Amino acid sequence: MSIHVLILAAGKGTRLKSALPKVLHQVAGAPMIDYVLATAAAIGAETRTVVVGHEADRVRAALGGQDDLRFVVQEPQLGTAHAVIQAEPLFAGARGTLVVLPGDAPLLTAKTLRALLDRHEQTGAAATVLAAVVDNPYGYGRIVREGDEVVRIVEHRDASASERAIREVNSSIYAFDVEPLFPALRQVASDNAQKEYYLPDLVAIYRKEGRRVAALAIDRPDEILGINTRAELAAMSERVWDARRAALMAAGVTLEDPRTTYIDRDVLVGPDSVIRPGVTLQGRTRIGARATIHSGVRIVDSELADDVTILDHCLVTGARIAQGAAVGPFAHIRPDSNICAGARVGNFVELKKTTLGAGSKANHLAYLGDATIGEKVNIGAGTITCNYDGVRKNPTVIEDGVFIGSDSQLVAPVTIGRGAYVAAGSTITKDVPADALGIARSRQENKEGWAALKKRLLKAEK
Ligand code: UD1
Ligand code: CA
Repeated sequence: MSIHVLILAAGKGTRLKSALPKVLHQVAGAPMIDYVLATAAAIGAETRTVVVGHEADRVRAALGGQDDLRFVVQEPQLGTAHAVIQAEPLFAGARGTLVVLPGDAPLLTAKTLRALLDRHEQTGAAATVLAAVVDNPYGYGRIVREGDEVVRIVEHRDASASERAIREVNSSIYAFDVEPLFPALRQVASDNAQKEYYLPDLVAIYRKEGRRVAALAIDRPDEILGINTRAELAAMSERVWDARRAALMAAGVTLEDPRTTYIDRDVLVGPDSVIRPGVTLQGRTRIGARATIHSGVRIVDSELADDVTILDHCLVTGARIAQGAAVGPFAHIRPDSNICAGARVGNFVELKKTTLGAGSKANHLAYLGDATIGEKVNIGAGTITCNYDGVRKNPTVIEDGVFIGSDSQLVAPVTIGRGAYVAAGSTITKDVPADALGIARSRQENKEGWAALKKRLLKAEK
């Protein structure tokens, strides 16, 4: 049986009061629609289609990386049934099951979706609704049953007092047989509180046509939680972080203060690593075993090997840090930087697109950009690679065993040969050959007795 997924993401998300479309708001570091798309991919859907409308171009652009995605535009947005109808041309003559998902329910798991599909297949129903019994059904559509049968779904705003007392709610997650779906959708009317075409109205229409409607009530209602307000958005991020924290602790990672540790859902951390308070780990970050990440550090899309130490208050983005290396405190490691095994980056050092070879050190106050630095190099305090000439970024090469004296400027493009020295305070504009000393500073002159004379003159003036 072929499975297609349709994600409804055309709505404005009025209650968020935002210029950004709702589905692009981030939950624990990723747009909420990413979660839904990942779940759709995980059930092996043959096609994934997103209904866009409000800020359609922006949503499309944000999802640009996923080539298999199809988009249909809903303009204007007249309700969830109307949203589904827009996809009809894509499913002309198609068979199989169409799974409809809202773009704003990120906690739904593939496991639950599979259970929904199983139920749909077993019962032979034309539509199967994922439902859940919740403590506070406010705002949700209510599942109205007669005996075991689902007879209709009534939206909160249209519900009577007795219907509002029903705690079994519609998740807005459905499995439909494709064939009868679109003709039935055209019968949906908009005679309701919001003057919208409601997809849940299909239930009553199917009943009237004598088609079966099934429901699967899940016992983990968290999974169907939708996001309509900023408060719900924050609460959702908290849930995702919480789950990630719990999973990592269960896998042998120490979080000294879980409440202030923010770890995005795709981040991996190896066992016996210790994460101190106030750390944020984002994106595709991977951290090996026995690492220590001190307070106030943020690491984005970076790979850290085993036994790495990041001292307090560093920002690390798009970097690779090899086994046993140490960084910080107060270091800024920017994209495409490579810190090799056992290397050391100290305080107030910035690296950009730079490789720092194994065992090399840049311990204090340096800017190293577009540089390739070999092994066992010592970068003195205050060293600056002058990589930008106002037009181009130019490379600096520092070969193995080089010693760069403090407060040196290396004006790129420039190469410092293996084993060479650069004298402190030099402005190096020409290559330094291997084993040479490059010195480029004005000569020192000592004027004997000058200071004493100056003081005597000043005293005499007074
Ligand atoms: C919807 C359901 C409700 C269910 C709840 C679960 C309807 C009428 N109601 O209500 O029964 O309990 O979800 O969270 O379906 N959308 C479009 N085009 C539109 C309108 C909405 O694409 O014209 C999209 C939205 O972007 C959103 C999804 O459909 O991703 C759900 O819409 P939303 O307005 O959030 O519906 P709810 O009021 O939450
Ligand atoms: Ca919603």
